[in-house]
Amino acid sequence: MTPIQANDLRLMEQVCRLAADTLVHVARFVKPGVTTNELDQIVYDFTLSHEAMPAPLNYNGFPKSICTSVNSCICHGVPDDQPLYEGDIVNVDVTSFKNGFFGDTSATYFVGEVSPKAKLLTEVAEQAMIKGIEEVKPFGTTGDIGFAINKFVTKKGFYPVREIGGHGIGRKFHTDPFVPSYGKKGRGEKLRPFTCITVEPMINETAAPIKEISIPNSSVKVYATGDGTLSAQFEHTILITDKGYEILTRRD
Ligand code: MF3
Ligand code: CO
Ligand code: CO
Repeated sequence: MTPIQANDLRLMEQVCRLAADTLVHVARFVKPGVTTNELDQIVYDFTLSHEAMPAPLNYNGFPKSICTSVNSCICHGVPDDQPLYEGDIVNVDVTSFKNGFFGDTSATYFVGEVSPKAKLLTEVAEQAMIKGIEEVKPFGTTGDIGFAINKFVTKKGFYPVREIGGHGIGRKFHTDPFVPSYGKKGRGEKLRPFTCITVEPMINETAAPIKEISIPNSSVKVYATGDGTLSAQFEHTILITDKGYEILTRRD
């Protein structure tokens, strides 16, 4: 990826702020009884009212504006008319597109009261993302990020998903480098100053092989745990600076 110029950086910051604001907005509606299609519509309306587009909509044939991944769904869950139930966990993944740039962020939310196990897995997933982000530095590597995530998650007794991970982002939704949730320090691709990546570890309760599910008329796959156990994920878009990093999708 080529480094981003000052004017473009403003636009990238702006779309990332919108993605974060959108996630905060939709999260207020996550409660028992709401359908994921209702969450999808809320994001569609909010995004258009901010002169932006939801990037997932029609992306490689994906039919909705967000991904909603419930319980055993790892990622790319397609919103539908199923209501959320008390005790569910749901990852809501928002990607906004505005003025030629993409901002990508997600979080896992509790639907009412959830089990201690669901709570712990979700907390570990968020902490894992933070551990990964803290490794981001100019001329560091994707392996530094993956190593930190894997070390933290395995210590907690959970399993990072290896097949799917973060990505470069900017004028394109998904670019190099692949940002894995495992790896070796100093290995993988170099992190270049003034480029952006996502850090988005998906954390599973067990080591069961993952399942791929097709979406009609789309090349996007839904991923789920092979044994029906839980998976949780968090995602931020990160700017690599000359000194370290900046979380462009921070929610504050
Ligand atoms: N937002 C997802 C990511 O973090 C990608 C979703 S692509 C879609 O990379 F087509 F499934 F929406
Ligand atoms: Co992403
Ligand atoms: Co995303």
